[in-house]
Amino acid sequence: MTQLEKKNKVAKAALEYIENNQVVGIGSGSTVNCFINMLDKVKSKIDAVVSSSELTTKLVESKNIRVIELKEAGKIPIYIDGADESNKFKQLIKGGGGALTREKIVAHSSSNFICMIDDSKYVRVLGKFPLPIEVIRMAQSSIAMEMIKLGGRPVLRENFITDNGNIILDVHDLEIDEPIGLESFLNNIPGVVTNGIFAIRGADKLLIANEKNIEVI
Ligand code: 5RP
Repeated sequence: MTQLEKKNKVAKAALEYIENNQVVGIGSGSTVNCFINMLDKVKSKIDAVVSSSELTTKLVESKNIRVIELKEAGKIPIYIDGADESNKFKQLIKGGGGALTREKIVAHSSSNFICMIDDSKYVRVLGKFPLPIEVIRMAQSSIAMEMIKLGGRPVLRENFITDNGNIILDVHDLEIDEPIGLESFLNNIPGVVTNGIFAIRGADKLLIANEKNIEVI
């Protein structure tokens, strides 16, 4: 089974979590795109969507589903998104698609975060996937130095500007043994907009697609 087939399989499983008349928060990325492609099946249940990126907004609107602002929605009952890595505590690395800031905002405002991954992303220790950090451009070199002090290898994401107009540093070679501590530490560095560790607010439910079935933890 290819990774894309697993993404489709886990996206289909996530559809089951949508209840009648719900506002649904939707993340970003290729797994989410598979999920959005299937939304016709449950469209009648969805009151509106709060989106985490310009691309997600465009795709959801192309399905004739209403996209509303977070301030109109208040607390969102369900948020569905992918991730780049998860450990067994449902602490995540996200931001491979660069939408981490809005994703973290929507996740924070949601009661139930359903995360869809395939089994290649389920890891013992976070950090094999380079940690994305959205950064105010002026702080690029000072933040890069901080990352080197931590033992990381920051690489500027080439030709990429976030929906918020910022750059991304992808930090390689970090072994993230204490995700909550590192997430808090990075949040306090001037110029860091958001880091891609989702541990303070991790997922509530993790759906993992493997060759045979969907594991739910
Ligand atoms: C985007 C994200 C994505 O959820 C993450 O990168 C996973 O992407 P994909 O579903 O394409 O593997 O955090 O900012």
